[in-house]
Amino acid sequence: MTPFPEGFLWGAATAAYQIEGAADEDGRAPSIWDTFSRTPGRTRDGDTGDVATDHYHRWAEDVASMAALGLDAYRFSISWSRVLPDGRPNRAGLDFYSRLVDALLEAGIAPVATLYHWDLPQDLEDAGGWPARDTAFRFAEYAEHVGQVLGDRVHTWTTLNEPWCSAFLGYASGVHAPGRADAAAALAAAHHLNLAHGMANGALRGVVAASARHSVTLNLHHLRGDAEAVRRVDAVANRIFTGPMLGGGYPADLLADTAAVTDWSFVRGGDETTIAAPLDVLGVNYYSPTLVRDDGAPAAAHGHAEGAATPFVGCADVVFAEQPGPYTEMGWPVDATGLTELLLLLHREHPGVPLMITENGAAFADEVAPDGRVHDEDRIAYLRDHLAAAAGAIAAGVDLRGYFAWSLLDNFEWSHGYSKRFGLIHVDYPTGRRTWKDSASWYQEAIKG
Ligand code: FCB
Repeated sequence: MTPFPEGFLWGAATAAYQIEGAADEDGRAPSIWDTFSRTPGRTRDGDTGDVATDHYHRWAEDVASMAALGLDAYRFSISWSRVLPDGRPNRAGLDFYSRLVDALLEAGIAPVATLYHWDLPQDLEDAGGWPARDTAFRFAEYAEHVGQVLGDRVHTWTTLNEPWCSAFLGYASGVHAPGRADAAAALAAAHHLNLAHGMANGALRGVVAASARHSVTLNLHHLRGDAEAVRRVDAVANRIFTGPMLGGGYPADLLADTAAVTDWSFVRGGDETTIAAPLDVLGVNYYSPTLVRDDGAPAAAHGHAEGAATPFVGCADVVFAEQPGPYTEMGWPVDATGLTELLLLLHREHPGVPLMITENGAAFADEVAPDGRVHDEDRIAYLRDHLAAAAGAIAAGVDLRGYFAWSLLDNFEWSHGYSKRFGLIHVDYPTGRRTWKDSASWYQEAIKG
């Protein structure tokens, strides 16, 4: 008996900048990831997404693979700067997604579209980026524009992917585009991403099919360790988003912990109501748990404005502790128990909110063997254990609606460039050739079963 309920969506996920390539084609304008990756020293080996997996040209072949895998759903993202380069509607850009959506539907695969997977149009960054309030308004316009064209066909809309990364890796630690290191700007960015989510959610509901589902995807940190350290990181990494998005507003302890960095005056009357626009499903990305310790500094030292090198603003006294292995190629510990715990925690704290695992997977040092195949036993074990962990959460009462493997294809892994392979399908970058890994065949069987 399968523990997965009727209607459970078996999927795989990708993101525009990581797979599309065609960076300068058909009217696309640069995003912050084009600028960042073309800046020396920002990505491993100077890798860029200029060509990536060439999905922009190979999308039909990729949809055929999805159909062969037996996917129920495909989670992809839309490139804002392809659709609205320099703020002007670009029909050729939208047509690409329109064709993709039609092909998915024809193959019986539900399109799950993310509007923002980190690729802010460069002109909007030049005008202030996410720390500027205006960006949220531009995002709502973009959402409405896309919704008008694809709104009759998209199954689930996701406003943002992992706004924590956009705000804190982009503007606090600066390891992601646009590469700024300014803790106060990062907190303002987090608020404007929240606001953008709420405004876009509202705008989409006005134009898309009534049957469409509305969601956001968060990389909730599953925290273990000393209670005070857990509380502080939970505030600035998780509750800064779940608080306002799920109707509770910004938590008081978050405002207190970050008071030395900002006075939060960028939050205006009515914003929290806008951000709390109803969600049909909450997307959860999970890779591994996080272990934190108090370093023993006196409480009075908390809250000082630390250097901007850490993405965990207001957590200068928290130590991020080493965890036992095994580890993936990212150096992330493999621990599926964290997934069950995280889902149960969310279910307890937000009982009425259906959940969906929108990313889960692992990078390993895959090689094409002499027999022409990729024998990625470690990825199969990872996926098997995490699916069992998801099943465990369902058995314990969690309303889980789907599971999306990250990723359909090997792709551009942000600052790591092409050095980390997460795909079910191997990509030979010089030729673009796709080869199913053993994990793809395994996932195909799992979906059948
Ligand atoms: C997530 C991102 C996704 C991918 C995986 C490995 O944080 O959403 O694009 O890079 O990590």
